[in-house]
Amino acid sequence: MSRKYFIAGNWKMNKTPEEGKKLASEIASIVSKDASVDVVICPTFTALDRVSQAIEGSAVKLGAQNLYPKANGAYTGEISPEMLREVFAKFVILGHSERREYFGETDAFVNEKVKFSLENLINPILCIGETLEQREANETLEVVKTQLLGGLEGVEASQMGSVVVAYEPVWAIGTGKTATPEMAQEVHGSIRALLNEKYGSAVGEKVRILYGGSMKPANAEELLSQTDIDGGLIGGAALDSKSFCDLITAAKNAS
Ligand code: 13P
Repeated sequence: MSRKYFIAGNWKMNKTPEEGKKLASEIASIVSKDASVDVVICPTFTALDRVSQAIEGSAVKLGAQNLYPKANGAYTGEISPEMLREVFAKFVILGHSERREYFGETDAFVNEKVKFSLENLINPILCIGETLEQREANETLEVVKTQLLGGLEGVEASQMGSVVVAYEPVWAIGTGKTATPEMAQEVHGSIRALLNEKYGSAVGEKVRILYGGSMKPANAEELLSQTDIDGGLIGGAALDSKSFCDLITAAKNAS
């Protein structure tokens, strides 16, 4: 099964709108109209509009880092799918471990967001992954299973073409520690098996499963050559156009 590689930059709480515009313009001019790899950049809310304009006409797509699962109303500080669609955001990162850790997001809440984003035509990138403590207690596969099935509860097979899954071991995020390709493949393989079991292999084999956690040009090719690693969700290395575009090249080389 050949799945198109998917490289997404999660800028987290970095880059002002002007800085974001500059970085996005650099990435767009390098990627140009080459759509051989799906490339998505996810800036902060305030930078979305300017970044959207900066990538217009290129193959680079826009994503947001969160949304609220309501159409509008009295939800101070929150952003709706319609607001994201209006700036041409096509993707949204949901269930990131930083939101689970610092903002108390549960699987049930992440699931609400996943379903609402799908109903409102924004493609979710559902993040799952274990902490160091959980890995050391041998709970990795159980934790990942609970987060995956919890996040996808009530999501139909017909909607899975719009879903991307990202496995991000929490202990590898921003630490410089990367899962070895074998460690990552073991988890990606088990995610694939769960998707195949839930949705049937015709659907499960098509879902892109990204790896995230200190992915950089030096380790990308080895990770991306694993059977069930279909791309990366990149933090630190996405904040510089050269390293981000080197990751896109690594995905092209692995294709
Ligand atoms: P780093 O690439 O900085 O480790 O971050 C990974 C991540 O959390 C992407 O969502």
